[in-house]
Amino acid sequence: MASVQHAEGDRRDFLFLATGAAAAVGGAAVVWPFISQLAPDAATVAAGAPVELDLSSIAAGAQIKILWRGKPYFVRNRTEAEIKAAQDVDISTLRDPETDAHRVKEGHAKWLITAANCTHLGCVPLGNQGDYGGWFCPCHGSHFDTSGRIRKGPAPKNLPVPQYTFVSETRIRITGAAAA
Ligand code: FES
Repeated sequence: MASVQHAEGDRRDFLFLATGAAAAVGGAAVVWPFISQLAPDAATVAAGAPVELDLSSIAAGAQIKILWRGKPYFVRNRTEAEIKAAQDVDISTLRDPETDAHRVKEGHAKWLITAANCTHLGCVPLGNQGDYGGWFCPCHGSHFDTSGRIRKGPAPKNLPVPQYTFVSETRIRITGAAAA
């Protein structure tokens, strides 16, 4: 059945992909009908089946968080300004040098998908905050840019990008965990 639910007491944009292979979520937490034919059996889900996520309801500049395989992930629809800021960085100045192009899919630069655990000690950073407009981790003060790259603070690495593919213009399939 429907595979998205709120975390009790959590922010309203924190959505859980509890079961199933397909889910649609939006800023208002709209849950679209689940296509049961696409659902893997429970054992497959428990083993960490790939999930598909509809992006069409995520507005420009907004992000959602999902839980998959027990770990949170950010899905962010970046604005043109955020994309430009990420692309304009001289990566030789970065602690964990990666181009923005390396962290997104070609032709889909507005979509940034990353693990949502800070690479310092695992807190979940806050979106659209910090000195670089990406994320700020309040636990010990790490700042990430709009590409999820560490720019300041104790985190040693960028927010990792999971393995995923676009199955349509507005739909992704997440198939593998982000490398630590
Ligand atoms: S866990 Fe994020 S800065 Fe320490």
